[in-house]
Amino acid sequence: QQDLEHIRNDIRTFKKNNNLDKVIVLWTANTERYVDVRQGLNQTSDEILQSIAANDDEISPSNIFACAAILEGCPYINGSPQNTLVPGIIELASKHNVFIGGDDFKSGQTKLKSVLADFLVSAGLKIESIVSYNHLGNNDGKNLSAPQQFRSKEISKSNVVDDMVGANHLLYNKKKNEHPDHVVVIKYVPFVKDSKRAMDEYISSIFMNGLNTIAIHNTCEDSLLASPLIIDLVILTELLTRITYKTNDSEQYQSFEPVLSILSYL
Ligand SMILES: NC(=O)c1ccc[n+]([C@@H]2O[C@H](COP(=O)([O-])OP(=O)(O)OC[C@H]3O[C@@H](n4cnc5c(N)ncnc54)[C@H](O)[C@@H]3O)[C@@H](O)[C@H]2O)c1
Repeated sequence: QQDLEHIRNDIRTFKKNNNLDKVIVLWTANTERYVDVRQGLNQTSDEILQSIAANDDEISPSNIFACAAILEGCPYINGSPQNTLVPGIIELASKHNVFIGGDDFKSGQTKLKSVLADFLVSAGLKIESIVSYNHLGNNDGKNLSAPQQFRSKEISKSNVVDDMVGANHLLYNKKKNEHPDHVVVIKYVPFVKDSKRAMDEYISSIFMNGLNTIAIHNTCEDSLLASPLIIDLVILTELLTRITYKTNDSEQYQSFEPVLSILSYL
């Protein structure tokens, strides 16, 4: 509870001292482990606020940041893979009509995966296996070498593939629960510092049961990929706080839904 008050106060002071009209909060701190999502803890806005008041151990720092931002009327964007935006936070954002969004900056391998998976499947090439291997030596790499934080990243990277399979009943038989093998490995190698190495292998079935293997090796400074995304996300969010729209059926202009799914694209 103390942390919530502290962050709310920091936001107010920052806004006042800098003479700002709006503040947008973006989480780019370390990846956290997934929090439990259950009744009594964080399923409703009342539950999450009560859990914060009771200093429940299962409330993560990013949960507190998100609630503080929402209660101060500031949009909250999540740049990390963990499940910060639990149902209670989504409800709180809806009640206060504040935007929330974002789902792990898609800067390199994950973005390429969504593009490539879409391309292959749309071309009728059935992806059978995707193996993604990474090593990096920055602090994010060190943090992700812990199993629970790695799990958050693994889930976030897997979602891209799950979406692709879910949308293609012709290639992937739903009844047989067909889906590609998908393995993600992340290793911490301090020597390479911020220069992250990503190696991916995609194997797809093609005509007459042939196999098509694509191997990709990508080396790039991790932070230089993510920083422009941070700026874009904030600019986009600010723009969306100003846009309202109206359809032929509605009389009044309205703003977008509080859950800004467009932000999860970046
Ligand atoms: N290309 C990329 O860099 C990229 C891509 C996708 C996602 N991400 C995600 O962005 C996040 C940040 O990555 P990074 O490389 O900048 O990490 P980093 O470890 O270099 O920096 C994280 C910072 O967060 C601070 N921090 C940790 N816990 C905090 C808390 N509870 N409150 C406030 N600050 C806290 C740390 O002190 C540190 O300064 C990670 O979750 C990472 O997975 C990065």
